[in-house]
Amino acid sequence: MRTHYCGHVDEQLLDQAIELTGWAHRRRDHGGVIFIDFRDREGLVQTVIDPDTVEAFALAESVRREFCLKIKGRVRLRPEGTANNDIRTGKVEVLVKEMELLNESAEPPFMLDADDTSEELRLKYRYMDLRRPTMQRNMMLRHKVTSTMRRFLDDNGFIDIETPMLTRATPEGARDYLVPSRTHEHKFFALPQSPQLFKQLLMMSGFDRYYQIVRCFRDEDLRADRQPEFTQLDIETSFLDEDDIMGLMENMARKLFKDAIGVELDDEFPRMAYAEAMARFGSDKPDLRIPLELVDIKDLMANVDFKVFAGPANDPKCRVTALKVPGGAKLSRKDIDGYTEFVGRYGARGLAWIKVNDVAAGVDGLQSPIVKNMKDDVMAVIERLEAQDGDIIFFGADKTAVVTDALGALRVKVGEDMGMVAEGWCPLWVVDFPMFEHDEANNRWQALHHPFTAPSCSAEELKANPGTALSRAYDMVLNGCEVGGGSVRIHKQDMQAEVFKLLGISDEEAEEKFGFLLEALRYGCPPHGGLAFGLDRLIMLMAGANSIREVMAFPKTQSAACPLTEAPGEVSATQMRDLGLKFRKPPEAAA
Ligand code: AMO
Ligand code: AMP
Repeated sequence: MRTHYCGHVDEQLLDQAIELTGWAHRRRDHGGVIFIDFRDREGLVQTVIDPDTVEAFALAESVRREFCLKIKGRVRLRPEGTANNDIRTGKVEVLVKEMELLNESAEPPFMLDADDTSEELRLKYRYMDLRRPTMQRNMMLRHKVTSTMRRFLDDNGFIDIETPMLTRATPEGARDYLVPSRTHEHKFFALPQSPQLFKQLLMMSGFDRYYQIVRCFRDEDLRADRQPEFTQLDIETSFLDEDDIMGLMENMARKLFKDAIGVELDDEFPRMAYAEAMARFGSDKPDLRIPLELVDIKDLMANVDFKVFAGPANDPKCRVTALKVPGGAKLSRKDIDGYTEFVGRYGARGLAWIKVNDVAAGVDGLQSPIVKNMKDDVMAVIERLEAQDGDIIFFGADKTAVVTDALGALRVKVGEDMGMVAEGWCPLWVVDFPMFEHDEANNRWQALHHPFTAPSCSAEELKANPGTALSRAYDMVLNGCEVGGGSVRIHKQDMQAEVFKLLGISDEEAEEKFGFLLEALRYGCPPHGGLAFGLDRLIMLMAGANSIREVMAFPKTQSAACPLTEAPGEVSATQMRDLGLKFRKPPEAAA
């Protein structure tokens, strides 16, 4: 029906007769002449309808926003001084000869170029929201990235293989979405949290290099970078070690950024041990664009009179640390109260601070609610932090995890608030993760990644020191976001059985849940490893969006619902009966 896309009409087509299809973005009546900004997925072009073209003009007078039209016209230069150099079509306009109404549009539920539309409304009318140029751009970027990924992986010998959606629980640390089985009474499928076990089985089958762009399902608390269903670029390889895998994936990341958004990432991504990331940045996904670091001062606080610090300084389970913010002495009491409230969300019971007004004046040059308690000891802190006039120093003293989380989050918050986030891209690998973390509440070990991750020590050493053993896992972090993670896997049955045992999974439970994996490991399983990228997160970063919902066509709301289809929905009594299910309370009572 058309000869060109609206967004492609430029000077090259001057004086040519063209045909376009699309939507009326905006109509302006200019004393006898009508302008319609005409839009399709490639962009906008200005069209002009003159009263001389009687029929087209009559139709144009009745055109409203989002009417679907076809036009025939001729391309001409816009009059002097009216060009818009920001867009490809900005120097030209189309003088309309004929116009055909393909379909009317009801009044749109919101203005497409408004940027204050509520997300609920945007998601209810997502098909309209997706007409917005930003959303069109985001979806096209996504397509570009996935097609580049496929090409790269194809060139490197990877095979795309699909794995089941109706499966058994795969432990990635979230709750499962369950699907009741009609044919097996009292039994449920789980939707995969990831294809982890299937991709490992494919290595056992000898496919050597697998990938899949695959949907994963996790019933967890939602945030800006978390959705209940999201997409992974999932990868597994045989006979490669962690250096090979990280190297290959870096190459892919560089190619994606170059081809999709013209960005050159570092030649080699730095690697940082988990322990160092937690110590210096208070996070296992440090944002290296922010030039602030935590500095431990536990040793300096062991003998101070200030109990808030001395207590934790003498407790091996605690951490006492400081965060120096250059130029932060100008923060107001209200700002500081705000940050105190902020760290409270991470469990911190307070946020001590010192403003450095005049370092040369010693203790007298400091302004702080805690200096009086610390006397001269405080100068050792000032020295270690190399604090200058005009700085503020924040302090955390508590259980290690609380201090690390709270000051790690404060580092990012203050860095953003004070405009300290450098431009650009800071990728890195975080490596040397602990195998396990201790779950205090249930007094047991938990896998930090998943239970199929290989330790970097022998089974005997692992058994002897589960708390300090490291794993062969790696996360790719970009600008403070964990974009991907993976590991070399356990490929020996006895090691896998040992890890299950350390995790408190009994032989029966291991057999019931993962018997097929343990069995498969008996038949010449190759050494293997891989990783998965969070595709949505990667695209979010590339698009400069602040939520993965902006780069997903049909995302869920914060409460894991879809306002468009009104999913999740009710089911009929017959369906419930067929599935052998019954509500404990009638639906009205539960609501
Ligand atoms: P992991 O659980 O780290 O590893 O997931 C891999 C990547 O997926 C992204 N991601 C999410 N994105 C959006 N919404 C979510 N709810 C969500 N959860 C995770 C993150 C994360 O880095 N099977 C392993 C991979 C492996 O070992 O190969 C796995 O799933 O960017
Ligand atoms: P207080 O002696 O309780 O008045 O506290 C003095 C200062 O120490 C206040 O600024 C508190 O916010 C701060 N503070 C209290 N507990 C902690 C803690 N666990 N870590 C860091 N600062 C704290």
